[in-house]
Amino acid sequence: MDITGRTVFIPGATSGIGRALSVALHDAGATVIAGGRRQALLDDLATEHPGIGTVVVDVADPASISAAAADVIERFPATDTLITMAGFAEPEDLTTGDFVDATARMVTTNILGTVRLIGAFTEHLQRMSGTIITVSSGLAFTPLAPMPTYSATKAFVHSFTDSLRLQLRDSGVRVREIIPPAVQTEFAPGQSTAEWAMPLDSFIAETMDLLGKDHDEIVVDHARALRDSEVNGNRAELMDQLTHLD
Ligand SMILES: NC(=O)c1ccc[n+]([C@@H]2O[C@H](COP(=O)([O-])OP(=O)(O)OC[C@H]3O[C@@H](n4cnc5c(N)ncnc54)[C@H](OP(=O)(O)O)[C@@H]3O)[C@@H](O)[C@H]2O)c1
Repeated sequence: MDITGRTVFIPGATSGIGRALSVALHDAGATVIAGGRRQALLDDLATEHPGIGTVVVDVADPASISAAAADVIERFPATDTLITMAGFAEPEDLTTGDFVDATARMVTTNILGTVRLIGAFTEHLQRMSGTIITVSSGLAFTPLAPMPTYSATKAFVHSFTDSLRLQLRDSGVRVREIIPPAVQTEFAPGQSTAEWAMPLDSFIAETMDLLGKDHDEIVVDHARALRDSEVNGNRAELMDQLTHLD
């Protein structure tokens, strides 16, 4: 898939993977529209990289998604690619009942946000013969026990993506999924410098290379062990190892 001539909307591009991918796609010749809640960070991105468009969007809010989708399609009618990047994680202690509010927050953003974004763009993308790229995680396949709902929301994203691909098979829309390993971003406290996380620039370089190829799943080498643990027969062992990382 040649991404260079694409017009790509990335809600979840104010920091981390989304921001770095926006810059890499922009540098490769794509037209990029970056989204997120933090207006100041969107302004910084547009100033540092003239040509990147921005839209404020809160994917936890259905009205915000509808307004952002209408705005993107009106201002950038050539939009032919959606990357559903927005997501977050909170740890949960399942030994008390207090975790349920955190569960609801993650379901709202990671699951409903992803689904509502897809719903807001699917008809437009069918007219454009476009591409939907979801963002799950290696944890969709090998859960991190201290982050049970986060891991489960990403398992949802993976499963939903597989069904979406089949339902849209004859529609002209390509459906792909980025499955990151741990990457050095501000995603969790201390993660931006953690040795167990992949450097962001290496992750983006490998992801850009894979996006240019034909795989449905974008799996960098570092994510392979998590992605394939079930078939490799070491899922329980890996889950145990992940729980004891610091
Ligand atoms: N880093 C990792 O190790 C890793 C591994 C696997 C998967 N992932 C996934 O990769 C994606 C990006 O994560 P990251 O590591 O780059 O983390 P990050 O630096 O914290 O970035 C998260 C992005 O999501 C946006 N976001 C969160 N909630 C949002 C909301 N309600 N509405 C709109 N945007 C929202 C944030 O923007 P605002 O705060 O400005 O709204 C930000 O741009 C996430 O889906 C994450 O689950 C990350």
